[in-house]
Amino acid sequence: MDKVKLVEMGPRDGLQNEPAQVPTAVKIELVQQLAECGLTHIEVASFVSPKWVPQMADGSEVLTGLSRKQGVVYSALTPNLKGLEAALAAGADEVAVFTAASERFCQKNINCSVAESMARFEPVLQLARERGVRVRGYVSTVLGCPYEGDIAPAAVARVAGELYRLGCDEISLGDTIGTGTPNKAIAMLSAVRQEVPLLRLAAHFHDTYGQALANLYAVLEQGLRIIDSSVAGLGGCPYARRASGNVASEDVVYLLHGLGLNTGVDLDRLVNTGRWISRQLGRENGSKTGRAWNS
Ligand code: HMG
Ligand code: MG
Repeated sequence: MDKVKLVEMGPRDGLQNEPAQVPTAVKIELVQQLAECGLTHIEVASFVSPKWVPQMADGSEVLTGLSRKQGVVYSALTPNLKGLEAALAAGADEVAVFTAASERFCQKNINCSVAESMARFEPVLQLARERGVRVRGYVSTVLGCPYEGDIAPAAVARVAGELYRLGCDEISLGDTIGTGTPNKAIAMLSAVRQEVPLLRLAAHFHDTYGQALANLYAVLEQGLRIIDSSVAGLGGCPYARRASGNVASEDVVYLLHGLGLNTGVDLDRLVNTGRWISRQLGRENGSKTGRAWNS
């Protein structure tokens, strides 16, 4: 059966914007439960400035406190060499650099231009390669920017291509504010795949306008096979006000299994994990499947 790789964002993208500090033990428990659901790629932490994103300040404790499950890749965001060194010391299996298709978002998010971000990433990629650690590259605002509005597919393709040529193994395309619709997603992907092989591209769609599943279906039809999602639809972005979380993992798994695509995920367990973390955070469950599922 055709397989889709899911990259679970809940512990990182999902929690980074949570207003109350989430205890480290709850983060660790979340990651462990997600691994038990059959998720094999989990983004667990961010090694960014704790002044910018206080919620992610305990990344080292989360990574070192985990009971690791064999075969699971535990990854972390590393915007610069300082972040990479901390992530490696804590035992991250994979790291990710992140930039944007729009200049203004890049400035707000990582305090530099897109060109400067590439210069910062060069030594990150070099050291990661020396250590045999895979690197993912994120491009934000691929279907719209909160400051610049519409973003041309060619601009996304240019940035994605640059990350790929720098040595990123996989490029994740972020609809940061969830404004995309299916035809736009297809146009964007068509431009990007001229620069980066399709099977190295991931869809990272936030669900602010309720379009994420429709957009995912559109890019799946084009042959994309890596999807980022967040259990219970947790999350948002500190530099994109009103952005809601990634598309909910439970809803994505339900869609994929319905399409006959294999994920390796136990949906029943995932629903229970989504309910558990929603209770822990005192949040309404952001997954429709999570609310409807009878288990
Ligand atoms: P900067 O201020 O330009 O960096 O920040 P700097 O090198 O001038 O350093 C300033 C201070 O930050 C110094 O501390 C550094 O030590 C410290 P001070 O001397 O003032 O006490 N610092 C660090 N501390 C810990 N870890 C580090 C680190 N680097 C510097 N790695 C920086 C540049 C990128 C660090 C900053 O802008 C930052 O942390 N931004 C936060 C970005 C972020 O986490 N955004 C959210 C994640 S991205 C996202 O959600 C989008 C995504 O999901 C895709 C999508 O949906 O589109 C991936
Ligand atoms: Mg995101």
